[in-house]
Amino acid sequence: RNILLLETCLLGNLFYCLLLMAPVLMAPTPPSMCTPLKTLNDSLSHRRRFMKHNFPINYSIRVHHQEIFKLSNISKMKLKVEGLDELVLQRLWFQVNQGVLKKIIRVLPERHPSRPYTAELERRFRDAEGVFVHSHPAEVFQQELPETVQDIWDQLTEEPDRVPESSWRLASPKSLVDNLCHTMYCLFWDCFSSTEASQDCEFYTEDL
Ligand SMILES: *[C@@H]1O[C@H](CO)[C@@H](O)[C@H](O)[C@H]1NC(C)=O
Ligand SMILES: *[C@@H]1O[C@H](CO)[C@@H](O)[C@H](O)[C@H]1NC(C)=O
Ligand SMILES: *[C@@H]1O[C@H](CO)[C@@H](O)[C@H](O)[C@H]1NC(C)=O
Repeated sequence: RNILLLETCLLGNLFYCLLLMAPVLMAPTPPSMCTPLKTLNDSLSHRRRFMKHNFPINYSIRVHHQEIFKLSNISKMKLKVEGLDELVLQRLWFQVNQGVLKKIIRVLPERHPSRPYTAELERRFRDAEGVFVHSHPAEVFQQELPETVQDIWDQLTEEPDRVPESSWRLASPKSLVDNLCHTMYCLFWDCFSSTEASQDCEFYTEDL
């Protein structure tokens, strides 16, 4: 990835280049994260079956609009917030997707065929989060968030009945879990550089 960035820098604009280099060089994913994330990735490879085929056609659930968290959101945020730390985005990724998985589980009756799968997905997600928290000094998590990110955070943790109707969106479980997966490949690129899908992360950086 650094070679790619270097090329972007040589060919492109020095400003974007610095913007890109800084977070990448400053916040590499701790190697200990890769094991739980790869375990999560193994589960995610079955998502078509459990998040789509087991549901009625066009089935969707109600989520905060901020829970639709895609690569394009990250690119936009990087443009908007100068020097946005990759670590902040990783924290946001955990916060958003914890809510997403909880909402999917909530609509699944005890004996639904996707229930055990989703419960395991959530367990593996939590394992990864545990390692994430333990592999950084505690101060990192007390640091003030950039305003844009703090606003998203506040809205995600708002009491559901205080969230205005216009803030909700409908999304299919499969699309939400796809977002979780694609953003994971890029935000934890160090662990997934061998994965074919992480090629998309080139666009994610070049788009900037
Ligand atoms: C992640 O899962 C995909 C299949 O969904 C696989 O192609 C890829 O190799 C996996 N990556 C890692 C690093 O385990
Ligand atoms: C599902 O959604 C698609 C696209 O919005 C629509 O064309 C299709 O008719 C819908 N199918 C059903 C069964 O509602
Ligand atoms: C991502 O972008 C969509 C619109 O494309 C927006 O509704 C959503 O709130 C954004 N998510 C975040 C976390 O900002």
